[in-house]
Amino acid sequence: MKVLVAGATGAIGKRLVPLLVAKRYEVVGMTHSPGKVDSLHEAGAEAVVADGLDRAAIMQTLTQTKPDAVIHQMSGLTGAGSFKKFDDEFAVTNALRTTGTDYLLDAAKQSGVRRFIAQSFGGWNYERRGSGLKTEQHPLDPTPPANQTKSMDAIRYVEEAALGAEGLEGMALRYGFFYGPGTGLSADGDIANLVLKRKLPIVGDGAGVWSFVHIEDAARATIAALEDGERGVYNVVDDEPAPIAEWLPELARILGAKRPRRIPTWLGRIAIGDVGISMMTQIRGMSNAKANRELGWQPRYKSWRDGFRTGLGNARMGPA
Ligand SMILES: NC(=O)c1ccc[n+]([C@@H]2O[C@H](COP(=O)([O-])OP(=O)(O)OC[C@H]3O[C@@H](n4cnc5c(N)ncnc54)[C@H](OP(=O)(O)O)[C@@H]3O)[C@@H](O)[C@H]2O)c1
Repeated sequence: MKVLVAGATGAIGKRLVPLLVAKRYEVVGMTHSPGKVDSLHEAGAEAVVADGLDRAAIMQTLTQTKPDAVIHQMSGLTGAGSFKKFDDEFAVTNALRTTGTDYLLDAAKQSGVRRFIAQSFGGWNYERRGSGLKTEQHPLDPTPPANQTKSMDAIRYVEEAALGAEGLEGMALRYGFFYGPGTGLSADGDIANLVLKRKLPIVGDGAGVWSFVHIEDAARATIAALEDGERGVYNVVDDEPAPIAEWLPELARILGAKRPRRIPTWLGRIAIGDVGISMMTQIRGMSNAKANRELGWQPRYKSWRDGFRTGLGNARMGPA
């Protein structure tokens, strides 16, 4: 089976490509950076250079490579870190989730692709009401903070486009917050640096619940979806969603940093705005029961506790 991975050099793409190759898939890795072609060849993939926002280039890429399945892992979040400018920082990612998805899907349909898997997200986009963990049945947030509405719309778009596509089986994977080698949450990544400098405080009660997934587990779940998934959305998270008041001090302890500071909500709102307050105090955790049950997928890092201790890796590390 031939699989085209768009975003093959990214945080998840880098883990996914070697795993697919090891499982004897014929892999086409797509990048829009000619300098990254060699790394794809080294990983055992064929490489194509195309801009995901260039319709003609995407049409040509799929017509020429004729994959059986397409996995859309394109995003543009490098350097993002300001909750206050959330939608601005997600602008490229949002374009890739809307226009980029349209181009890939049109090209996929035209070239006879049978399965299409898109990267989505699960966490801040679920409704911030009610108790218990969010399943795929729960609604997305109808009233996100103002600064997050465009990013929410882009998530709805990619999911509806993938699931609604005729003539192929479309899925969207709602990955939790990535951590591990090559991600922003690695031993020497941006988040660790903030924690080491005591610049990432807990705001208010820190009751916002985060669902994490180790990047290797996310890649393995993607292959499980490729093999066993059906049209639909899947939460891809570990077994232990945790409030920020719990995981942030533990991350600091593991990194050998001082305990995070605590600041009141009113002060936090000035620094990180409504999106930041939502992340710190309101977001909900997610259940992975559907992916366990229907994809036969279990995270190897069942809890971020073990993952932070043994699986952070460093930011520049390539495939394991
Ligand atoms: N669920 C999550 O928590 C989540 C989700 C996404 C990202 N992140 C984090 O955000 C950090 C930065 O992520 P990132 O999105 O900047 O980079 P990334 O994950 O390192 O990679 C993005 C991928 O998208 C590709 N891409 C971007 N724009 C493209 C375009 N116009 N056409 C074709 N391909 C394009 C890139 O290709 P090139 O080879 O051309 O660069 C690259 O392969 C990551 O380290 C990750 O931890 C987290």
